[in-house]
Amino acid sequence: MRIIRTISELKVALKALRESHKSIGFVPTMGYLHEGHASLIKQSTARCDATVVSVFVNPTQFGPGEDLSRYPRDLERDQNLCLRLGVAILFMPEAAEVYPTGFCTSISVGPIADALCGAFRPGHFRGVATVVAKLFSMVQPDLAFFGQKDLQQTAIIRRVVKDLNLPVDILVAPTVREGDGLALSSRNAYLTEAERARALGISRGLFAATAAFEKGERDAEALAALARASMEAAGEVQYCQVVDPSSLDPIVGGINRPAALCAAVVVGGTRLIDNVLLTPS
Ligand code: PAJ
Repeated sequence: MRIIRTISELKVALKALRESHKSIGFVPTMGYLHEGHASLIKQSTARCDATVVSVFVNPTQFGPGEDLSRYPRDLERDQNLCLRLGVAILFMPEAAEVYPTGFCTSISVGPIADALCGAFRPGHFRGVATVVAKLFSMVQPDLAFFGQKDLQQTAIIRRVVKDLNLPVDILVAPTVREGDGLALSSRNAYLTEAERARALGISRGLFAATAAFEKGERDAEALAALARASMEAAGEVQYCQVVDPSSLDPIVGGINRPAALCAAVVVGGTRLIDNVLLTPS
């Protein structure tokens, strides 16, 4: 595995891979890797000849007062995991490499960036869309892998790829959870034991709604209310809403097409997100 910190070095390494007609899979991350990230990396190594993983805590997607400076990091553990999973290139640029002096261009995403998390994190998806487009441009992957855990992010990336004709295929992998249901997240590291226990209310709420949906409940508001009731014991529910998984428009009334129940809950000081898909048979 090659560990690369500059864009020029990355270019040279990728040129060699491309010249030998290797397909390139890409998994962008902010590091502090867990089994959710590992599932994306495994999908990439299974489908592509060479896998590139980036670890970059992207400053432009953090708002003022958010957790940029304390975002968890463990580069040695990340390196070991990538090595073990057969990653070809681990790209770990510094912020100044990605955003050199004078940088002033960004991608403004339409209304899907203002829904759900966008309403609570203004500018967040502008930062995400911009850095992902930049990373795509640096790596030029054939396939890029994202997790369903960040459903709004996947909808936005798909939109950006389509709108800007970026030559990459996007694959979305299911959310990886702890045995008790909590969705894996680098931010779970912030939780105290008591908060960790309370946070289970989020997945429990989503699972309760899924169970009701499977038993035939189709009313979007009723399902969201059921999930919310369990989440309120976990913390401050920022949103808990049934939406169209592509447009993120709220679904009102009966669910008669694929939908997603999405939630963000602040547990202690930690903001956690999760979702489930509700697909009528
Ligand atoms: P990060 O939070 O590190 O997540 C990197 C990728 O791992 C994302 O596609 C995310 O959806 C996926 N992921 C996280 N937790 C997961 C879980 N429990 N199961 C499955 N996949 C999971 O998302 C980002 O970084 C950044 O916004 C990034 C796209 C790298 C841009 O900076």
